[in-house]
Amino acid sequence: MINKKSNPDKNKQYYIGLMSGTSADGIDLALVSFDENKKLNHHASYYQAYCNDTADKITALYTPDNSPPQSSEIDRAFALDVELAQLFAKAITTFLSQEQLSSNDIIAIGSHGQTIRHRPLAKYPFTLQIGCCQTLATLTDIRVIGQFRRKDMALGGQGAPLVPAFHQTIFSETSLENGCDVFVVNIGGISNLTFLPANERMKVIGYDTGTGNALMDDWFQLHNPNSSSKYDKNGSWAASGTINDDLLKQLLSDDYFQLVPPKSTGREYFHLPWLERQLSKVSPVTNQDVQATLTAFTAITIVNAIKQHSSNRKNITKVYLCGGGVHNKSLKVQLNQQLQSSPKNYDLLLTNQKDIDSDQLEAIAFAWLAFAYDKKFLSSMPAVTGASKSCTLGNDFFP
Ligand SMILES: Nc1ncnc2c1ncn2[C@@H]1O[C@H](COP(=O)(O)OP(=O)(O)O)[C@@H](O)[C@H]1O
Ligand SMILES: [Mg+2]
Repeated sequence: MINKKSNPDKNKQYYIGLMSGTSADGIDLALVSFDENKKLNHHASYYQAYCNDTADKITALYTPDNSPPQSSEIDRAFALDVELAQLFAKAITTFLSQEQLSSNDIIAIGSHGQTIRHRPLAKYPFTLQIGCCQTLATLTDIRVIGQFRRKDMALGGQGAPLVPAFHQTIFSETSLENGCDVFVVNIGGISNLTFLPANERMKVIGYDTGTGNALMDDWFQLHNPNSSSKYDKNGSWAASGTINDDLLKQLLSDDYFQLVPPKSTGREYFHLPWLERQLSKVSPVTNQDVQATLTAFTAITIVNAIKQHSSNRKNITKVYLCGGGVHNKSLKVQLNQQLQSSPKNYDLLLTNQKDIDSDQLEAIAFAWLAFAYDKKFLSSMPAVTGASKSCTLGNDFFP
């Protein structure tokens, strides 16, 4: 699938943002330039879905296994590290030829990589994104800036989420008199939120609120093996079910929701075995009712997080949504209902209203992080991740 926005100008120099999120659905590319006032321009996008085989190889590495040594996780992970870099490189060369550009037109690629394990609370905390940056640089003949999470983790932070600094540059509406509180909510495989308070003396907050699409995708695939879609298209399967209150209560009782930020999570925590454990604690629930309940659960955990952080302003609070979850109608209905049940005034928007395509925000953010690296901006947010100090995120890999 290819989305084209505008014809790139041959006289410009670009960054490419490359993102592949925890949903493991595919590769997103964004072609971005910055003018002398650091203003961002988004020129074109490209999406390459993963084939089933690649998506399965990725998701099989999300949880530790005990398979025999010949199929060891380490072998599979590092083979996939190179295989994904080759797929990323292929997506980039196809994108460049489609846009009639060459590697010389690109200053650098900001590559997030594919997270296959994220353990911020382990004794030796680590996070692992694969899609070898060196291979990508060599194959594309373009400098790559990657490994964005590592420096923040070395400084004691969670290494996630990284996008709040970018959200702040685009969405913040700080003003002591008439600014308004802004939330940016990305519903990817996992959902994360950034709170940009109107009062600039208040801290920006950002963290993972809990599940996003990934658990709904897993449940959908388990019970709809013959569907041509890998997810509950528009949330219509969820809409055919009813929310089960006992199950909903059980899901919401998970300790993750009591933790205070900074906090981040992943598919090694909210996965099918976790869901099965919750299901075993309540009376039997039909498959579509489980999907309806998971949808409500995702919306409620997002909205609970939003309500916790709102300040006492009378002004409207803006909530900008992005990520694949915005296409799930049932989820949006739930989000709307939950927000409207609050006495505060919320305006539920898409990031498109600020000229950032909601399907492209994360890829654009990684182009911005590459630009921030080149300009030596302090691009991390210790208040968000818990790191001991701020830093310029990323590392260079030369062709
Ligand atoms: N039309 C749709 N209806 C319901 N869900 C959708 C639709 N389109 C995309 N999605 C959801 O969005 C997910 C991809 O979201 P994305 O933002 O790319 O996540 P990630 O950043 O984790 O890759 C899909 O796995 C699917 O669950
Ligand atoms: Mg994706």
